[in-house]
Amino acid sequence: MKKILLAPSILSANFCKLGKEVRQVLQFGADIIHFDVMDNHYVPNITFGPLVLESLRNNNIVHPIEVHLMVHPVTKILIKNFIDVGATTIIVHPETTYDLNNIINFIKSFGCKVGLALSPNIEINYLYPFLDIIDIVLVMSVMPGFGGQKFLLEIFQKISCIRKLLNEQKNTILLEVDGGVTLQNVKKIVTVGADIVVLGTSLFGTNDYQKTLKNFKKILFI
Ligand code: DX5
Ligand code: ZN
Repeated sequence: MKKILLAPSILSANFCKLGKEVRQVLQFGADIIHFDVMDNHYVPNITFGPLVLESLRNNNIVHPIEVHLMVHPVTKILIKNFIDVGATTIIVHPETTYDLNNIINFIKSFGCKVGLALSPNIEINYLYPFLDIIDIVLVMSVMPGFGGQKFLLEIFQKISCIRKLLNEQKNTILLEVDGGVTLQNVKKIVTVGADIVVLGTSLFGTNDYQKTLKNFKKILFI
């Protein structure tokens, strides 16, 4: 049975004690920190940038940090700034650049992993030209912009289509699902094909992270 990875989204963390919160969820068994970057342009919200990631790294956070860029346009300067301070994966939305191939190769040239994120209204065929070079497909199961939304049920079908597509490839692309993942729906999300699940409100909205992560792991046999 494949190992499912848990990726807490710090969008729902308490920013007053961000370092502590991140350390806790990692200590309690999370695998990856999911870092949601919003620009009030691609989405109607603003979050945080490279300086915040840098301060996590300066506080002994050594685990993988994946940067989910919800910005338009996505630029090489911004990407490089995140890589310089320790991002291990950069995830971009295909429709946020005119030269996706160039952006993907730029990310890879630093030895950083690269992911493509599909918003609910974006079709799977954006992925086709890049299946040989990307590391992650991130399927959004809410409209990007805010934590705490409800999982869009129609996305189950999209996840299973992408799972099928990835199984046909001779590579190891991981399928990540982002938005509205809960203790109630996580089993089904993984059964239809997820390798990584993002946990925002369903983790940071609880008052016992250890217990919540334990419950997710119990359901997923990890
Ligand atoms: C939404 C973000 C998600 C979100 C997940 O734009 O990309 O990562 O924060 O949070 P929940 O799990 O609360 O939907
Ligand atoms: Zn995200």
